Formats: sequence, structure tokens, C-alpha cells
Amino acid sequence: MTHVLVLNGPNLGRLGVREPEIYGAASFADLVAAAERWGRELGLEAEVRQTDDESEIVGWLHEAVDARAHVVLNPAAFTHYSYALRDAAAQVTTSGLLLVEVHLSNPAARESFRHHSVVSGVATGTVAGFGFDSYRLALSAVAARLQA
Ligand code: DQA
Repeated sequence: MTHVLVLNGPNLGRLGVREPEIYGAASFADLVAAAERWGRELGLEAEVRQTDDESEIVGWLHEAVDARAHVVLNPAAFTHYSYALRDAAAQVTTSGLLLVEVHLSNPAARESFRHHSVVSGVATGTVAGFGFDSYRLALSAVAARLQA
């Protein structure tokens, strides 16, 4: 099965507790279970990780390049200001791998500081605003691209 890294940035480990009116009542463990199941249904082995640490997520993107793994990435707040994350994400896509940026909420409909993503310009594509389903749609996009 094709290995896909599903990488999540800061505060996403707090799903279910953090602003449930925006991010929903389900926990990060629920997201892991859902993404693994959707992956299996699509013929992908989805490995889900989360960190609050910028250097760790940058390292995981380097690992994706070296292991030739496609990436689904929710950069969380790093989306809006981390040039280090953008540069690491660019290495994924310029090496010919897919990187789908995902967001649970629709950042474009929220505070103005969330309107700009420094990652979008180097991503294969972006899915935002569908809650956990953003991840299902992103994994479906990866599976569809691999079959094309
Ligand atoms: C988020 C949106 C970001 O603006 C925010 O900082 C997050 C989560 C989302 O999934 O909707 O932490 O990436």
C-alpha cells in the first residue's frame, strides 16, 4: 500500500477540547482512527502524526522526501507565518511527491491573519472548511492522482 504521511501542526492534539464550536467535539484520536480507515478504504496506508514543534514537522517533511511518501498536511497556525515549513513543503512537491494542505475550518472565512497561507503556493492543492472530511477529501485526491 502507498504510504501517506498525515502531518498535523500545533494545537491539533487538543481537538475536542479546543474551541469545539470551530473544530468540533471529536478528539485527535478520533481523527487518527478516521484517517487510517479512509486511507485503507482508498488503498493508502495513512500514518497520522501531530506535533507542536516547528522543527519536528520540518524534519517529518524531510523524511517524506527521503522515503518518497506523499503528504497530507494541516500546518495549523504555522500555515500563516512559517517560512521554514513552506520551504520544507516545497521540497516535497518539487521532488515530484503530492502535498495536500488541509484545514478543518475555512481560514478564509475567519480572522484576517488566517487569510494568507505561506504553504498554499507550494502545495499540490488545498482542502479547507469540511471538518474531518477535509482529510477524507485530501486522501481521496491523493488516491485519484495515483490512479491517473
Ligand atoms: C487550522 C486553521 C488555522 O488557522 C489554525 O491556526 C489551526 C487549525 C484548521 O485546521 O482549520 O490551528 O489549520
